Amino acid sequence: MIDLKVPFIDLQQRFIEEREELMACVERVLSQGHLVMTQEVTDFEKHVTDYTGAKHCVSCGNGTDALMLALWALGIGKGDEVITTPISFVASTGSIAHVGATPVYADVREDQNIDPAEIEKKITPRTKAIMPVHWSGRIADMDAIMAIGKRHNLFVIEDAAQSMGAYYKGRHGGTFGNVGTFSAHPLKNLNAIGDGGFLVTDDEDVAKRIRLYRNHGLQDRDTCVMYGVNSRLDSLNAEVLSFRLGRLADVISRRQKNVELYRARIKAKQIYIPPCQTYEKNSFVMMITQAERRDELQAHLLQKGIQSLVYYATPLHLHKAAARLGYKRGDFPKAEQQADQVLALPHHQYLTEQQIGYVADSVNAFYGA
Ligand SMILES: Cc1ncc(COP(=O)(O)O)c(C=O)c1O
Repeated sequence: MIDLKVPFIDLQQRFIEEREELMACVERVLSQGHLVMTQEVTDFEKHVTDYTGAKHCVSCGNGTDALMLALWALGIGKGDEVITTPISFVASTGSIAHVGATPVYADVREDQNIDPAEIEKKITPRTKAIMPVHWSGRIADMDAIMAIGKRHNLFVIEDAAQSMGAYYKGRHGGTFGNVGTFSAHPLKNLNAIGDGGFLVTDDEDVAKRIRLYRNHGLQDRDTCVMYGVNSRLDSLNAEVLSFRLGRLADVISRRQKNVELYRARIKAKQIYIPPCQTYEKNSFVMMITQAERRDELQAHLLQKGIQSLVYYATPLHLHKAAARLGYKRGDFPKAEQQADQVLALPHHQYLTEQQIGYVADSVNAFYGA
């Protein structure tokens, strides 16, 4: 068995660091005897609106539900097309398919985010919305995307699952479009103790509809005004997320420092770390590089006790589930090339400078740099 010197993520360390505060959250929530739809949930939603600058926040069960709730609330369904990116977690496309709409892909730029010029080419009379994904915590080019949305009268739903704490030209991710959706999955920077999600919007009607949908369409205990689902954020998770929101800036800044260290220490030209533009603040949920001979590099790193992950080897249009959409290899050359090269290096907030130096040296040694 390989002795893991640099793990990709270290959630146990997070527990050690936060044990006292987390236990206090458990004590507070469990002692008052109510666990669903309590004041903790309302408080967390208020903290999110304060943090992001959005007018409304509605929490829910996870980031995938947040996407589906957004699509439902905007009336997107059968016969509609939603333009999105082939570089994401399957949930972005899955949510579109689940409401009965058709996902339509547009290729990405070097920074892995959807290319606005490609979006425009994909618009048809059936297009209802654009769903950019702020991949790895870098906000897509929202000025250009919002301009296209406006020009063609399309909704914009930002899949901001990875971008809590990320900004574009001083504005928080998820607050540009009609709705921005977030995940609080354990691997995100703002993470619940299990699954969790939330969304933001400035549209009061949309927020109201989503509040109903996420709780069976119940206006009160005995009045169902529409059939909805059960997608509620647990009170305990709401309390933990409120506590962790206070630490988010610190988590992100420690991760950013690690990325800067990598930039300084990796000399090999065969591995590309997309640069940060002056107008963006990346939340670095992941630090995704694009590496020549990626699979060999990953095996070499593992030999050295360094864990890395591929996000993802299959672009969304080439999954078996996407077969009915009729895409083939060659349709999105940039996304496909990236899928062959992407490798996320460990950069979490508990790494030491020595560990990062060790990873960088191992990368350099692999390429002979
Ligand atoms: C880009 C993206 N969209 C959607 C999701 C779905 O979020 P969740 O896992 O909370 O359902 C994720 C989470 O992994 C994600 O990374």
